[in-house]
Amino acid sequence: MTSSVTASPAAAIRRIRIQVNGQEHECEVRPNRLLVDFLRYDLGLTGTKEGCGVGVCGLCTVLLDGQMVASCLTLAVFADGGEVTTIEGLAVGAELHPVQDCFIEYGGFQCGICTPGQIMAAKALLDDNPTPTEEEIKEWMMGNLCRCTGYYKIVESVQRAAGRLRGAGAGDGATARQGPAGARAGRLAAR
Ligand code: FES
Ligand code: FES
Repeated sequence: MTSSVTASPAAAIRRIRIQVNGQEHECEVRPNRLLVDFLRYDLGLTGTKEGCGVGVCGLCTVLLDGQMVASCLTLAVFADGGEVTTIEGLAVGAELHPVQDCFIEYGGFQCGICTPGQIMAAKALLDDNPTPTEEEIKEWMMGNLCRCTGYYKIVESVQRAAGRLRGAGAGDGATARQGPAGARAGRLAAR
C-alpha cells in the first residue's frame, strides 16, 4: 500500500495510487470516497453504473486485483496499491472481450444498464472457473439483477462465452463440469 495522509487542514485527504485498466493513477481522495464515484467522476470511467448503492443489484461490479467487488461498497482508499478492471478495460483495441461479444450475439441485454456489471461478474466467474455448469452460472450471477431480460439470455451468453474462451467455438457453450461453485464464498465476501 502506498497511500499517505497529508497534514491538516487537508488531513482528510489521502493520496492513493491505483492502476485502472492498466493505467497508473495517483490521486488525492477523501477517505470516504467510494470506488464507484472515484471511477465515474474522478477518472471519467462511466461504464461502471450505480444502481442500489447498497451492494444488492450488482450494477457497480468491477474487479479489484482480479476479485469481483461491489464498487458502491468499496472505498477508493481500499483499492490503494491495487489493480482495478472496469468494463472499459476488457476490449483490446477494437476487439471486444469474448464475454462482451457473446452478450451482444446472444441477446444478454436489453436496456443495458445492468450489462457492465453482468459482464464483469461473468468475466470473474470464467477466470475462476472456465467450465461452469448452468447451476454454477446461475448461482454466481444471482447478485447481478436485471429488470429486462428474464435472465435466460444472460445465462446463455455466459455459457457461450465459456465455450468461446475454451476455444470450443460459439456453438459449444454447453457446460461440462459438475460440482459446487467453489468461488461462491469468495464472491459473497467481496460484496
Ligand atoms: S450499485 Fe447496486 S450493488 Fe453497487
Ligand atoms: S438489460 Fe435492462 S436491466 Fe438488465
